[in-house]
This record gives sequence, C-alpha cells and structure tokens, in this order.
Amino acid sequence: MKHVTGEPRIGDVFGELLRDALAVATGIGPRPLAGGRLPRPVIEIIERDDGLVNGAPAAHYLDEPQDWQPHDHRAVDRVRGATLDVGVGGGRIALLLQERGVPVTGLDTSAGALQVCRRRGVRDLVHATVDEHATSGRRYDTFLLLGNNLGLIEGRERAPTFLAALAALARPGAQVIAHGTDPYGTRDPVHTGYHEHNRRRGRLGGQLRLRLRYRELGTPWFDYLVCSPEELAELVHGSPWQLVDVDSHDAPYYLATLQLTA
Ligand SMILES: C[S@@+](CC[C@H](N)C(=O)[O-])C[C@H]1O[C@@H](n2cnc3c(N)ncnc32)[C@H](O)[C@@H]1O
Repeated sequence: MKHVTGEPRIGDVFGELLRDALAVATGIGPRPLAGGRLPRPVIEIIERDDGLVNGAPAAHYLDEPQDWQPHDHRAVDRVRGATLDVGVGGGRIALLLQERGVPVTGLDTSAGALQVCRRRGVRDLVHATVDEHATSGRRYDTFLLLGNNLGLIEGRERAPTFLAALAALARPGAQVIAHGTDPYGTRDPVHTGYHEHNRRRGRLGGQLRLRLRYRELGTPWFDYLVCSPEELAELVHGSPWQLVDVDSHDAPYYLATLQLTA
C-alpha cells in the first residue's frame, strides 16, 4: 500500500525532469499532463532550507547553442584537449564539443540525465561523482562546471576534497572552467537575511542548503555554493589549483578559470 506522508519520495529528480523536458521538446514519449490534454512545461522546484521556493523551467537544459547565455559560448571557446563535463545534465555543452571534434566525457550522478544524454547522442558518459571517477585512470586537460555548477564545490568543508579529486583526474597544465554567480549584489531581505543567517552558523553567505523536487520526487537536502570570486579565491588557496582569471562580463554571473599549479 502507498505510504502517504506529505514528504517527497527520494529519487532521480534531474533524470525525471530532463526525460519529461525532452519528451515535451521532441513530442516523443509520455509527457506530463496536468489534468488536461496539453503537455505542461516542465518546472524544476528548488526549495531552500529557510522555506524559500523557486520554480525554474527545465527546457533550457536542452537549449541549442543559439539560445545559450554568452558566457556559455566563452566557456566552450576556452576548452582545449580531453574534457570532462562535470554535471553534464542534458548534454547541451558536450554535444557542441563533440561536433567540434573535442574528446569529451560527460559525468553525472543522475542515471536519468545520462540516459537523456545518450538518446541525444553524447557518446562518452560516466555515472559517478568526481571522487569516484578519480580512481578510473582517465585524465583530462579541461574540466567544465557549467550551468552554475561551481556550486558543486559546496563550501569550505567539501572544497579541498572536490578540488583534489579534479587534480587527481588532471593532466599537467590542466584547467577548470566554472560558471558561478556572485550572490551579494541583491538587496532583497529574503536573500540578505539568509546570507546573514548562514554566516552566523559558520557557513559562507551563499552556501545554499537546497533540495530539488519534481512531481512526487525529491532529492535529499544538499549544499550548493553561490559565492563571490573573492570567496572562491580563498577556497582555492592551498589547493593544487590557482584562480588565474575571472570573466565578469555578464555580472552577476562569472566564469572562473583555475589552472593546475603542480
Ligand atoms: C544545474 S544542472 C547543470 C547541467 C549542465 N552542466 C548545463 O549547463 O546544462 C546540474 C547537473 O549536475 C548534476 N550533479 C549534481 N550533483 C552532482 C555531483 N555531485 N557530481 C556530478 N554531477 C552532479 C545533476 O544531476 C545535473 O545534471
């Protein structure tokens, strides 16, 4: 019998929403219907631990290059050599790199996201965290953390392990190209109050505690970091990486480039 608690069932939120977004975009396969006959846009629900809830359309995870943000183009133009797309999502970046002849591996912890990537034609896919993949013996010249995936650095506790795992996967001279958002330009008291609350409990201001929801599914609560370039420089300090460039042309978004020092 179904056990109803009001809480979401833990599951592959990204996988399910990407699969539905692909079905809506292509018209192929079962699409989410909300009581009617017309397919609904697929919305990712993002919950923060202060109760803030946001909805973001998932379709952009499948966007073609002509619909990308300018910083995404500048990021892929910086790619060189064997590339690991960390948190490959629906594969939009990996597909363009493949087309350009770049050897690219898409890594993701979502089995469903990887299925979507495979169906869209991404050839080399890995179901793992970077830590797990570090033992594979594979090596890369470029690591991409796009679609705000600088957030995967999580905060002060996780940053050293995450950066060490990337370094273990790196060839000499490797680079990380990461998309971040500086959270501190806002005057919205909901956000500034949250940043203050975080600092009081010893966290970075923009160290978000989130869970994602889609339909009846949810993720466990996890940390996702939105930080300023200055905070990033501190997190990188003492790691095998050096912050060598910050491109803030699309502020508050920025592209950070890290270079392997050793
Ligand atoms: C915000 S989406 C970005 C997708 C893609 N990079 C883009 O720009 O379209 C985040 C992706 O990272 C994946 N992800 C989340 N945590 C991860 C982790 N610890 N390691 C690898 N991938 C992760 C999610 O499953 C999701 O596909």
